[in-house]
Amino acid sequence: MTVAAPPALLRLLHGLTAALLPLAWLSGWVVYSLYDGRWGRLPQPISADWIDIHGSIGVALWPVALLFVGYALTAGRWRLRRAANALPLLALVLAVGSGKLMQEDWLRDGQLHHLAYSLHLLAWLLIALAVPLHLLALWRRGGPALLATMLRWH
Ligand code: HEM
Repeated sequence: MTVAAPPALLRLLHGLTAALLPLAWLSGWVVYSLYDGRWGRLPQPISADWIDIHGSIGVALWPVALLFVGYALTAGRWRLRRAANALPLLALVLAVGSGKLMQEDWLRDGQLHHLAYSLHLLAWLLIALAVPLHLLALWRRGGPALLATMLRWH
């Protein structure tokens, strides 16, 4: 079975988002573990300025996410009728939006009570649910052939 590839602009923006988002998610996990840890901690990671690393990935992600969200809400709107596509987009918007409202020193100063930080944690959780659900739904709909359409350059 051949599956038609999505438009090139969607593949580009979606691909950049799908590459950067897991990096932001993973580094965010390390930051939570080092500076928060209320629900458990990871084993001590390599020592580095993880807030800075996470922030830099966030800086790279947000303009890409902005373009991707713009595309998805206009030209790709019909794809969002599927909850499995809409949910990761919602999680992405929440993550990037709440991240932009956060200040670098909050966690260093032990300030864990800010609303933006709570929303950022919620977004992290939502991403952990929405992205696997997105992949599972696509797999069930079209198997590896459908997943591969988003990864193809040509
Ligand atoms: C990592 C974070 C990811 C996010 C935030 C995300 C988000 C989205 C969104 C919002 C759409 C709809 C786009 C539109 O409205 O035009 C979409 C579609 C799609 N995504 Fe993802 N995605 C992610 C990862 C992946 C991965 C890793 C794959 C496959 C390898 C994938 C495969 C697809 C495919 C095939 C479609 C088209 C589905 C359709 O036509 O209904 N996605 N994705």
